[in-house]
Amino acid sequence: MRSHYCGQINASHIDQEVELCGWVHRRRDHGGVIFIDLRDREGLVQVVYDPDLPDVFSKAEQVRNEFVVRIRGKVRARPQGTVNTDLATGEIEILGLHLEVLNRSETPPFQLDEHENVSEEVRLRYRYIDLRRPEMLARIKLRAAVTRSLRNYLDNHGYLDIETPMLTKATPEGARDYLVPSRTHPGKFFALPQSPQLFKQLLMMSGMDRYYQIVRCFRDEDLRADRQPEFTQLDLEMSFMDENEVMAIMEDMIRAMFREVQGVDLPEFPRMTYAEAVRRFGSDRPDLRCPLELIDVADLMANVEFKVFSGPAKDPKGRVVAMRLPKGSELSRKEIDEYTKFVSIYGAKGLAYIKVNDWSQGREGLQSPILKFLPDEAVDGIMQRTAAENGDLIFFGADRATVVNEALGALRVKLGEDLNLMQGEWKPLWVVDFPMFEWDEGANRWNALHHPFTAPKADQIGLLDSDPGACLSRAYDMVINGSEVGGGSIRIHTQDVQQQVFKLLGIGPEEAEEKFGFLLAALKFGCPPHGGLAFGLDRLVMLMAGASSIRDVMAFPKTQTAACMLTSAPSEVGQAQLRELSIRLRLPQSEEKKEA
Ligand code: AMO
Ligand code: AMP
Repeated sequence: MRSHYCGQINASHIDQEVELCGWVHRRRDHGGVIFIDLRDREGLVQVVYDPDLPDVFSKAEQVRNEFVVRIRGKVRARPQGTVNTDLATGEIEILGLHLEVLNRSETPPFQLDEHENVSEEVRLRYRYIDLRRPEMLARIKLRAAVTRSLRNYLDNHGYLDIETPMLTKATPEGARDYLVPSRTHPGKFFALPQSPQLFKQLLMMSGMDRYYQIVRCFRDEDLRADRQPEFTQLDLEMSFMDENEVMAIMEDMIRAMFREVQGVDLPEFPRMTYAEAVRRFGSDRPDLRCPLELIDVADLMANVEFKVFSGPAKDPKGRVVAMRLPKGSELSRKEIDEYTKFVSIYGAKGLAYIKVNDWSQGREGLQSPILKFLPDEAVDGIMQRTAAENGDLIFFGADRATVVNEALGALRVKLGEDLNLMQGEWKPLWVVDFPMFEWDEGANRWNALHHPFTAPKADQIGLLDSDPGACLSRAYDMVINGSEVGGGSIRIHTQDVQQQVFKLLGIGPEEAEEKFGFLLAALKFGCPPHGGLAFGLDRLVMLMAGASSIRDVMAFPKTQTAACMLTSAPSEVGQAQLRELSIRLRLPQSEEKKEA
């Protein structure tokens, strides 16, 4: 039906006749001449209809925005002074000789260039229109370019693309499962995979050696800007490689992809231990573009009068930190109040600070609501340790370590963004030496920090018995600009260690057999050492696109409440269907009635 894409016409086509199909992006009447900006996947081109050709002119008069049309016309240079340098096709225009309306459009629920005034709900309900926006189209194309590049790399490096089941058994990645009832096995359910973790390990046991899959994962968890209930992983597993080999090849792949897709040469990926990342940045996914750091000052605060500080300073689970903000004394009271409100989201009960006006005057040159509580030694110690200079501001956090890390870790990034402190465009790193387990206060037991199949460091296996909390794992996360884009580990490949780890996690032999019997059995029949990782593809693309929400890089995402606005899923099903599945509903409402 067409000879070219709209967006691909340029000066080399001048004097040629072209046939184009697309949507009417905009129609303008200019003193007897009609301009139609015609849009397709590849961009916009301006078509001009002249009243000298009355037949087509009258057709052009009737088209409206988002009509689908087919045109024929002659490419010509735009008159001097009307060249549009913002547009790839801006040097030329097309003199319209023919116009056919292929389909009309009702007035769309929003104009493409007015999406900013439209709620995301409306955008998602009419996603097919939203996706016509050049900005959205660019993101979808970027996503395709990313997967194309990754696939190429992996195909060239001997990885086999292998599919794994969607209807399967629960895999523990720490979220709730999406369940699918079985008709043929009444009362039984499949779980949609939270990841293909166990299948990819089994593929290593099958000798596949190098596996990858671009695969949908399902997790029923609290949604945030960078999480979706249904998301895509680039999932990988490889045999006979240690963590250094895995990290090296994955780094090479990501580096090649950034070069190919964005023309960016990523800097070196430094390696940082989990302990160092949390100590210096309050986070296991530090944004290294921000130069601010957390500095421990508990030892200086242990004996001060101010209980808010001395309490956590003396508590082994507490933490007291200072964070120096260069030139921060310019912050107004109101701004500091706003940052105090910001840290309260993370549970911080306050945000003490010291403004360093003129340290040559000693205490007199400082300004702070907590100064009166601090003896000279503490003040001197803080000034020395933070290396604060006149004009700086020092923030403080004191609480349980988890609260301080989250609150000050987040504040650090927020200050970096608000005050333009970010340095460098891309700051990737590997975070390594994660603990195997973290203690779950509520449930009173150990949880796997990564997942239960992650191997402990070889020299630390003894700690599984004596001090599980101190045992480090062979896990690694790839972090870019403060976003965890991927994570993985070398896996346990012997049955005894796997059983020992299950036991530590409170999974007894019976439960282990019931849930993971197939894995334990497979470990007995010649399992190679293996490891791998999974990248969050949506997150990676979101980062590369500079999008603020993961929803903006998915064609058909779900809302914050895990619903699909477009199709109105999830939805009710009929009684017959439920009966077939042996399901009787007990809705929360009827529960209430029953109790009353
Ligand atoms: P993990 O649970 O760390 O590891 O997931 C891997 C990566 O997937 C992305 N991700 C998400 N993206 C969007 N929405 C979500 N709800 C979501 N949850 C996770 C993150 C994360 O780094 N089987 C292991 C991998 C392995 O050990 O090989 C796993 O799934 O970017
Ligand atoms: P208060 O004595 O509660 O008025 O607090 C004095 C100062 O300490 C205020 O600037 C508070 O914001 C700050 N502050 C209170 N609790 C904490 C905390 N847990 N961590 C850091 N600063 C705090």
